[in-house]
Amino acid sequence: MHLREGLQKKHMIEDHKFKINAVANNGLISYIADGDGISASIGGTPVFKLELDGESFYAKAEWFNHFTIKSTNFKHGSLKMRPAFFMVKGAMENGLLETKTIIEPTSGNTGIAISALSRIFGFRFIPIISYKVTDEVKEIFKRLGTEPIEVDDNLCPRVSNTDTDQAIAIAKSYAQSPATRDKYLWLNQYENNFNPLAHANSTASEILAQVKGLDAVLTGIGTGGTYVGLKTSLESRGIKVVGIQPQPNHKIQGLRNLSESSLMPAILERTEARPDDFKVVNDDEAFECIREIYRKYNLLLGPSSGVTCHEAINMAKDGKKVMAILADTGQNYISMYRKMGIVDDEIDFNFMYDRLKVAPASL
Ligand SMILES: Cc1ncc(COP(=O)(O)O)c(C=O)c1O
Repeated sequence: MHLREGLQKKHMIEDHKFKINAVANNGLISYIADGDGISASIGGTPVFKLELDGESFYAKAEWFNHFTIKSTNFKHGSLKMRPAFFMVKGAMENGLLETKTIIEPTSGNTGIAISALSRIFGFRFIPIISYKVTDEVKEIFKRLGTEPIEVDDNLCPRVSNTDTDQAIAIAKSYAQSPATRDKYLWLNQYENNFNPLAHANSTASEILAQVKGLDAVLTGIGTGGTYVGLKTSLESRGIKVVGIQPQPNHKIQGLRNLSESSLMPAILERTEARPDDFKVVNDDEAFECIREIYRKYNLLLGPSSGVTCHEAINMAKDGKKVMAILADTGQNYISMYRKMGIVDDEIDFNFMYDRLKVAPASL
């Protein structure tokens, strides 16, 4: 944890109005926001070196983009805090949140992040989720005092021009129909440029500062925001960005198999990317990786990290120096992991934030 233990120096106040401080943390910038009994820390996430199957790779622990409910010391974090913060800050700076309620389709992490920010900054928020979302995610919304609308959709909301009953169509209708458009704002993480920009401006610059001489960085594809943002900043520096999709009909919450929607998310569509450009990792491979990392390091990661770590091992076998993005912990998925026999005991996730039992990267 040396990245966090270094001297912290408050070097500028970002914006008094929104109570956001930017803090220099061993050269990495993180944003601290605080309000209504919740504090959030976004950016400046640590990198570890993991070793599996005799191969080693770097891993960026994105759950450290997190909030804490101070009264209960409940913590939750994911890579989605970055784009949520950038999108919300953009909307606040344009004065859009003084009157409007944010409505956003989400498979969990984006909604949880916006929900925490809505408490801190005092705006209203309605997430639209699939009824298939785990009880853990629903419970976190409850803890934050947010009431989602549940719909019959894929876990990662379908992107289509024709369906009318799914999460994206409902958000569009609230945000665009004359009767409701003055009251609702759809940030639209599938199209919003602040989504990739969050990764281009924060995640990518941290990676460049943290590990030298990387051949590739691996990320899963949900909205495509992480992939496009990293690609924008890293490929000109000689670092390949590898986007990975799960198999069709998968169990990897937050990621999408691109053949399952009739359209690509707009963020991806704007690039030259085609579905075939993205490597496929199947569920068995991903969950086996989750199981091995848990056994060896006592770190219970989210399923999408199984996808990136599996491919990181493959590339390390080919002699590549790679970094896997670890999007979140197993916090949202514990009931599924119990059913799958990956864990059978109680887990205190705070240890994954407070005190890690893994060897930090030798940088
Ligand atoms: C757990 C998890 N991993 C990966 C991703 C992919 O991120 P992106 O939307 O930037 O493609 C998401 C997105 O929701 C996620 O929730």
